[in-house]
Parts: sequence; structure tokens; C-alpha cells
Amino acid sequence: MKKVIRIVVMVSGGGSNLEAILEAQETGRLPGAEVVLVISSNADAYALERAQNHGIETAVIERKAFAGDEAFQAAILEQLFKARADVVCLAGYLKKVGPGIIRRFRGRILNIHPALLPKYGGAGMYGHYVHEAVLAAGEKESGCSIHIVDEDFDHGPILAQVKVPVLPTDSPDTLAARILEQEHALYPKALREFCEKLTVSGVQS
Ligand code: GRF
Repeated sequence: MKKVIRIVVMVSGGGSNLEAILEAQETGRLPGAEVVLVISSNADAYALERAQNHGIETAVIERKAFAGDEAFQAAILEQLFKARADVVCLAGYLKKVGPGIIRRFRGRILNIHPALLPKYGGAGMYGHYVHEAVLAAGEKESGCSIHIVDEDFDHGPILAQVKVPVLPTDSPDTLAARILEQEHALYPKALREFCEKLTVSGVQS
């Protein structure tokens, strides 16, 4: 029997990408894979409610509950092990994933970023800051990227991208909304393709 790929989604906020992934799972667009846990870095994240509405287990791991970064990262790693995670999806997760987790899940942590990486990524480039920078630079197009997470912010190999036009009338909000709509299609699709490749190459946990 083929092993089901166990996905853990990590969130900090609204969780609309999480919702898109869960909808894909429920409508058969993520065959052979299952979201088994949602980890939030923020107890007030609406993403937690979304997960619970879909009957998905949740865990809150907030940085402020730990004396140091090492203990914080160790608590996350422990949850990933407990969930027997094969793949980790960052979906609006605002904390840096520590090197220990990256080492243990090398090549199996995905992230979505609301710009055409390698442009407009890196520390401080999140939320409206990304779209403000794109508009300030007078770009004619932007978009979203799915990439493998490595030790640097928004840096690992790019798996998939979608472009959208930047309109002369855009504000950071209108541009963000146009990109977010594309994110919701791109993340489930890229995740499906990633899981299919993982199945061929063999899932290791
Ligand atoms: C998205 O724009 C994603 O690209 C970025 O954070 C936002 C998260 O939105 N990393 P949501 O929490 O999935 O609604």
C-alpha cells in the first residue's frame, strides 16, 4: 500500500492559503497526501479557526512562551516528529524556520511568497512591504512564487510562479488581492506536483 504523504501547514495569520490547500484536499486535488496538523506562531490567528472548521488538529507554538530561540525551534521540531510530517508548508508563517528543522526536513519545506522571487524577497519583505516595494520600483508585473525553504529568507529553489500585471491605478492592497487570488490556485497545484515527485522518489520520514 502506498504511504500517504503527511503534510503539516505552518501559519501566523489569516490562513487563506491554508484554506485553499484544505479545499484542494477535500475535493480530491491532493491525492495521496493529507494535512495532519496546523501549527500557528500566533494564538489569535484566524487560520486556527479555519483548520478547526475542517477538523484538522492544531498546535499553537508562540515564540514568547520560550526563553530562547533554541527551545522554540525544538518545540516545533517535536510537533513535526509527533505528527510524522513528511512535508511542511509555510503559508503566511512569519517566523524564521530554524536551521535544525531545515536540516531535518531538507528539501521538504515549501513556502509561498507574494512576489516574483528572487526579486522582493528577504528579511522585512512580507505583507504590504512587498507590494509597496514593487509599486515604488515601477514594476509592470508581479506575482507569487512557491519555493523550497533553506537557511535564508525567501531564498531556496523556486518550484512554481504565476505572474500578474501591475496596473497604474494599483495600491498595495489591490495588488495584494490580485496576487492572493493566484496564490490560492498555485499553492495546491505546486504542492500536488511536489507530492507526486516525492512519491516517485520515495517518502522518507
Ligand atoms: C500570503 O500573501 C503569502 O504569500 C505570504 O503571506 C500571505 C499569507 O496569507 N507568505 P494567508 O494567511 O494565507 O491568507
